[in-house]
Amino acid sequence: AKKKKPKLLNKFDKTIKAELDAAEKLRKKGKLEQAQKAFEDLVIRYPQSPRARYGKAQTEDDLAEKMRSNDMLQRAINTYGEAADLPNAPTDLVKLALKRRAERQQFLELGRIRGSLVTLQKLVQLFPDDVSLKNDFGVGYLLLGDNSNAKKVYEEVLSIAPHDGFAKVHYGFILKAENKIAESIPFLKEGLESGDPGTDDGRFYFHLGDALQRVGDEEAYKWYELGHKRGHFASMWQRSLYNVDGLKAQPWWTAKETGYTDLVKALERNWKLVRDEGLAVMDTEKGLFLPEDENLREKGDWGQFTLWQQGKKNENSCKQVPKTCTLMERFPESTGCKRGQIKYSIMKPGTHVWPHTGPTNCRLRMHLGLVIPKEGCRIRCTNDTRTWEEGKVLIFDDSFEHEVWQDASSFRLIFIVDVWHPELTPHQRRTLSPI
Ligand code: LMR
Ligand code: MN
Repeated sequence: AKKKKPKLLNKFDKTIKAELDAAEKLRKKGKLEQAQKAFEDLVIRYPQSPRARYGKAQTEDDLAEKMRSNDMLQRAINTYGEAADLPNAPTDLVKLALKRRAERQQFLELGRIRGSLVTLQKLVQLFPDDVSLKNDFGVGYLLLGDNSNAKKVYEEVLSIAPHDGFAKVHYGFILKAENKIAESIPFLKEGLESGDPGTDDGRFYFHLGDALQRVGDEEAYKWYELGHKRGHFASMWQRSLYNVDGLKAQPWWTAKETGYTDLVKALERNWKLVRDEGLAVMDTEKGLFLPEDENLREKGDWGQFTLWQQGKKNENSCKQVPKTCTLMERFPESTGCKRGQIKYSIMKPGTHVWPHTGPTNCRLRMHLGLVIPKEGCRIRCTNDTRTWEEGKVLIFDDSFEHEVWQDASSFRLIFIVDVWHPELTPHQRRTLSPI
């Protein structure tokens, strides 16, 4: 389908279209100083005009590029935000303004990190004996996602300062990300034990515990407990790191406790429809089920077909399962859950999912059983293990440690529906960052 032209003018802006067009023409021609003057003028006269504000932002954006100015870029970022916040801003304008804003923010952020990396490199050269400068330099690489250079930096630090706790936790963290589980353990452990500044971070407890669990070492829970005592985890079992404080926390929920009884009823009444559409996709569009890619499996075959994520519908996926998506549209507590997903999940026999913890306490996770073998499938959340039933919904809080086994003789299919934690306010649901 051809893309429709975005609608940028609201009712009022249509009445000043000639003036807006004149300013936009200047911008398009590259007469940026004049365009800036024209849009600033319009913003002063029509402070409620989203289109004028958006034009001002775009002009500042263009100027930032021309002048290579971060200050100007910051101004553009602010103005995009103002434009999107104005009352009666057209949906298309809000979307374009916020998308561009996010892009530019990222660019600015990365630019700042690169800039600081250059500065740190100079410092490291000027003061080669200062180990803490080298450590900061490594963090700069990690922030840019350049683990291999970070690794080199920490190898160097550890060769000159073998007891440096900061370098140890970071080196261990990098090894763990490379799936060198057993190797990562002593570095993470000794780094945390050092108590050196910068080592007391929830992620190090999280990954040390995870590595210990994967090698079958019960000491994991000692570290989780310590991570909890130091304020990083809500409890030994609940180890999500993106949390809202004070939300009711328990591993398993009943429909009634969630308050989302209409949704649960709708899923249980329509489970065959959901199942049949899922099965049809498995037969004809197998490639839509993507293998789990977060390194959560010890072994086996586990695929997911996602319909919504971060509160956004995947239109293409929904074309494959239209009735299921129409059903879900009635439940904004799920489709609008920016910290969750709606997806099919297929698991083959011979699969084991390591104990793990979701990223946030802001969602609850419903599992609707679709195709459940008689025996061999189970899910443990904390110390309570349950099994799925066809046509029935299980509800758990996946910020608590959970683990899955599939030892049946045929595949298992479920439908996963995340919902906002029921205690989150409408304002929190609108403003929490997506995950
Ligand atoms: C999970 O949400 O971690 C798993 O339980 C999903 C699944 O398919 O079992
Ligand atoms: Mn999980």
